[in-house]
Amino acid sequence: MNQGDFLLIGVILNFSCFVQMLEFSRMECSQAAQDKTYDCSGQGLLSIPDSLPPSTTGLDFSFNTLPFIHNSTFIKLKELIDLDLTRCQINWIYEDAFQYQINLQTLVLIGNQFMFIADNAFSGPVKLKHLFLTQTALSTLRFVPSENLNWLETLDFGNNDIYSLQFLSSFTTRNLKNLDFQLNGIQKIHATDVEVLKHAVGLNLNFKGNDIIFIEPGAFDSCQFNSLDFSGCLDEADLSVILLGLKGLSTRVLKLGTYEDTPEPTDITPTSLQGLCDITVEELSFQLLHFKDFSNTTFQCLTRLRKLDLTRSHISFLPSNIQGMDSLTHLILNENNFRNVCLTSAQNFPALTHLSLKGNSKMLQFHQGCLQALSKLEHLDMSHSFLQTGSCCGIQLKGLGSLLHLNMSYNSKMSMQGLPFSETPNLLLLDLTRTPITYSGSRGPFHNLHQLQTLNLSHTYTNTSNVYLLEGLQSLRVLSLQGNSFQSGVIQDSEMFKCVPKLEILILSECQLTAIADKAFEPLRELKYVDVSKNNLFKFNGHAFAVLKDIQLNFARNNIEIIAVEQINLMQPSSKIRLSYNPLLCNCSNLHFITWYQQNMDKILDPEETVCGSPMPGTRVADVHLSCGNHLLLIILLVLSAVLISTLAAVAGRKCCIQSVHAGSCSYQRLETYQQLS
Ligand SMILES: *[C@@H]1O[C@H](CO)[C@@H](O)[C@H](O)[C@H]1NC(C)=O
Ligand SMILES: *[C@@H]1O[C@H](CO)[C@@H](O)[C@H](O)[C@H]1NC(C)=O
Ligand SMILES: *[C@@H]1O[C@H](CO)[C@@H](O)[C@H](O)[C@H]1NC(C)=O
Ligand SMILES: *[C@@H]1O[C@H](CO)[C@@H](O)[C@H](O)[C@H]1NC(C)=O
Ligand SMILES: *[C@@H]1O[C@H](CO)[C@@H](O)[C@H](O)[C@H]1NC(C)=O
Ligand SMILES: *[C@@H]1O[C@H](CO)[C@@H](O)[C@H](O)[C@H]1NC(C)=O
Repeated sequence: MNQGDFLLIGVILNFSCFVQMLEFSRMECSQAAQDKTYDCSGQGLLSIPDSLPPSTTGLDFSFNTLPFIHNSTFIKLKELIDLDLTRCQINWIYEDAFQYQINLQTLVLIGNQFMFIADNAFSGPVKLKHLFLTQTALSTLRFVPSENLNWLETLDFGNNDIYSLQFLSSFTTRNLKNLDFQLNGIQKIHATDVEVLKHAVGLNLNFKGNDIIFIEPGAFDSCQFNSLDFSGCLDEADLSVILLGLKGLSTRVLKLGTYEDTPEPTDITPTSLQGLCDITVEELSFQLLHFKDFSNTTFQCLTRLRKLDLTRSHISFLPSNIQGMDSLTHLILNENNFRNVCLTSAQNFPALTHLSLKGNSKMLQFHQGCLQALSKLEHLDMSHSFLQTGSCCGIQLKGLGSLLHLNMSYNSKMSMQGLPFSETPNLLLLDLTRTPITYSGSRGPFHNLHQLQTLNLSHTYTNTSNVYLLEGLQSLRVLSLQGNSFQSGVIQDSEMFKCVPKLEILILSECQLTAIADKAFEPLRELKYVDVSKNNLFKFNGHAFAVLKDIQLNFARNNIEIIAVEQINLMQPSSKIRLSYNPLLCNCSNLHFITWYQQNMDKILDPEETVCGSPMPGTRVADVHLSCGNHLLLIILLVLSAVLISTLAAVAGRKCCIQSVHAGSCSYQRLETYQQLS
């Protein structure tokens, strides 16, 4: 490192603005509540403020200006544990820069363009654990002094120009948990460079977004990683080259997918997967790769997998005779081109607990018993998949007796008869959002779902007049009826809510509601949150919520102008209400409410957005000052003085007053006075 040359450039680059800004340096640091950590970020500071106490353990100094770090920069802060110097325009770190920070554990140097880091820059901290060198224009690992970094757990080199792993061997990897090389220019990985990673246990190693063309076969032999990410690395290389290099590796997670659909997607052929037979892996992601064709050898090396992610892998079917996939518990088939659920050949994966078929690109037929073999299935997600069920769901869900979570949101119209979920009586969660449902039957469609805790029926065109709708849902805690309409816009004192005594969260937003009956929610003693936002309510009916303790009410975006204080006082003391985006009147007609509001701000949610409608739109209700009482006093005074004056006038001249009987509108009183006087 030629320090002299760099010094000159550095001085020229930084000195002028350094001097300019020196005078404006000021202390703008905030202390985290009752803590020894300070946030000085983005304050235009040019040095560490003297006012920081020596006991400071955490300092966020990011987005300030600190071109040089030398042995006295942090001299006062000897207790530092965490130091964030993100984007401080640091170019130079001199000898012994952190010599007094023996407890330093985290050093964040993201986004600084280093020209020089002294060999013993990191001497001092005895146990530096986390070092972030992301976006620091590094081109070689040699630049980073590794001698004193014996306890590193995190070493982040992401987003640099590193093209080789040479000199990685100079780092101590014994405790390393996260080593990140994402978004660099690494093309070749040699066995000698990564030999040192054999000492790490449970490492997360990230090569995401490098253009790997070669890995020396067996380079990672006998490494034991937690995860290894080669996603976005396959633009140039064949998958088999990477897999050959990973021979002998054991890793829990292996990511081989990519991120954007390249014009020529990388093809996966049965032979390119052969290398997987020599790798021990539990979770494998092929996201966005292109499965060219299947043969009976495609899955031959995947038999020990527990989780397989085939998101957007351009698949329209899986072969029906895959052997040995008995360990697979999670299968992700999102964003593919299936035309029928049966084409997933689910019988190949008898141990599945999680199956996701989200975002299918084609109309997806769901016929009888396609998933029948999945007796252990607990989570099934078929949202956004153009699902065509016709009459649902008894025959389709046949055999899925263990199912707990079912997501069929955003699909085509479903008609339900009788007991649609007869096959899945253990459901805990059912999400039918934006899947129009029609139901015919004399009892409730969900009446066998005694365990169900969450039911999302938002925007499903559900017939809410059916008092049996919620029958049997005795465990239900969360219910969304958002976007469905109620007869004449009123939540009635109906029988409906009697079936769900455990309900805690009720969403009734966008239901075109105009009123809520007094006893609508009376059976719901556990209710904690009611959302009636985005309706047409013009009144706050306190009776409906009077029995509920600790409730939060969301009345945002309605048409409420005036609130009667005796109504809002019916709420239990610990309750809270959101009234934002209502056209609240801020004149004397609403004086009582505004006074209540300002005295009960602790009950108001979102006060910043709770603003007036007429006559002062946009003013926060909290800031309104009305002087209605004074006006009243003034009027009384005026009336009194008028009476007084007229009385005096009457006494003064009777004749004059008699004449005015025919002239003025106020004369009745005067006439009366005259009569009394005479
Ligand atoms: C900082 O380094 C300079 C030059 O090496 C040395 O003279 C000085 O004593 C050092 N200061 C501290 C506080 O260590
Ligand atoms: C794979 O299929 C080919 C022909 O389709 C067949 O000859 C071969 O026996 C099959 N191998 C296995 C292991 O099933
Ligand atoms: C169901 O799927 C939709 C769309 O993928 C998602 O937004 C929603 O959160 C899922 N529901 C649950 C309960 O996870
Ligand atoms: C339906 O509601 C549940 C519970 O609030 C929620 O977890 C889920 O994400 C909602 N579904 C959609 C599609 O938003
Ligand atoms: C809704 O349910 C009520 C009561 O069960 C019934 O009378 C009415 O016909 C239903 N409406 C529709 C559109 O199905
Ligand atoms: C308050 O404003 C409303 C609507 O503009 C109006 O009808 C009402 O008379 C006003 N009240 C008073 C006391 O001025």
